[in-house]
Amino acid sequence: MEIRQKILITGGAGFIGSHVAKRLIQSGHEVIIVDNFNPYYDPDLKRARLRILLQDTPHTLYTTDIADQWAMRKIFQTHAIGSICHLAAQAGVRYASKDPFAYEHSNLRGTLTVLEMAREFQVGNIVIASSSSVYGNAAQYPVKETDIADKPISLYAATKRACELMAYSYHHLYQLPMTCLRFFTVYGPWGRPDMALFSFTNAALEGKPIDVFGHGEMTRDFTYIDDIVDGIVKALEKNLPWAVLNLGRGKPEPLMHMINLVESATGKTLEKNFLPMQPGDVKHTWTDTHEANAALDWEPKTSLDEGVPQFVNWYLSYFT
Ligand SMILES: NC(=O)c1ccc[n+]([C@@H]2O[C@H](COP(=O)([O-])OP(=O)(O)OC[C@H]3O[C@@H](n4cnc5c(N)ncnc54)[C@H](O)[C@@H]3O)[C@@H](O)[C@H]2O)c1
Repeated sequence: MEIRQKILITGGAGFIGSHVAKRLIQSGHEVIIVDNFNPYYDPDLKRARLRILLQDTPHTLYTTDIADQWAMRKIFQTHAIGSICHLAAQAGVRYASKDPFAYEHSNLRGTLTVLEMAREFQVGNIVIASSSSVYGNAAQYPVKETDIADKPISLYAATKRACELMAYSYHHLYQLPMTCLRFFTVYGPWGRPDMALFSFTNAALEGKPIDVFGHGEMTRDFTYIDDIVDGIVKALEKNLPWAVLNLGRGKPEPLMHMINLVESATGKTLEKNFLPMQPGDVKHTWTDTHEANAALDWEPKTSLDEGVPQFVNWYLSYFT
């Protein structure tokens, strides 16, 4: 199925959003990016993604808060938006202890505003970012979409689950087609500075020690950015009436293996402080990939061994 031409990407200056924008523009779509460039992490990195990653490819940019109903309505009045890829959010688990209302603002009010715009302007194709964190500390692994996800162990996870539930109610009430995608630890070039791979690479290159939480016993289903972009684009193309799908590689890796890969890609040995689990962090993530494969014909391709050197190469070229 064809994606309808004008695509609004919320959070389009973010890590995942900028890669999605690049792919969609390259395949001939008209892309409108909405991002508020908030300072959760350095907004210069967000601007650089648009400047360098998108280069001179044509796109329309609005520096707008998605929770600003008036400004959002103006955008929808100006452009005949056929599809929405809603990625803007207050991400990160730990930041909730500092600013819980940032999650309420962007994830709850912001998502509700996007849904309201979709209803008012009858947008017929909506993909929404959710998260593996909705599963909490699962009773068994790998997790499946049919597993109950009602015990979030962080405010971030609670708001992401709330986004899915609000999306379902808008699908049910107004027959809007929606696909919620639960991403599993996405990494790759232009990644987020608050995520472990970024901070471990930075520490390795600057000769600083790292904190390894969970005493190094955590595992993560690391998923490479290009695979996530494939899944998002396929979800936009399929435009399913309603779906919640896990997008993860399906191969959990010990955190220590990721650290070893950082050490070999940088040629440095990291000094490690082993510490207990942090509140809000889950011990393991690992998805069953059958449902996403069946629904979207999607298969992740990139292993962590291939992906970490790609990230480190980007990091070196950007910062040095
Ligand atoms: N990266 C991951 O591993 C991961 C995993 C699970 C889920 N997700 C979800 O995927 C989406 C994208 O994540 P990311 O890693 O690219 O994060 P990101 O922080 O790099 O991107 C989010 C973007 O949204 C923007 N934004 C935030 N609040 C906004 C608001 N109120 N109005 C307008 N713009 C706003 C930010 O400025 C940022 O550029 C998020 O919804 C996140 O919760 C990411």
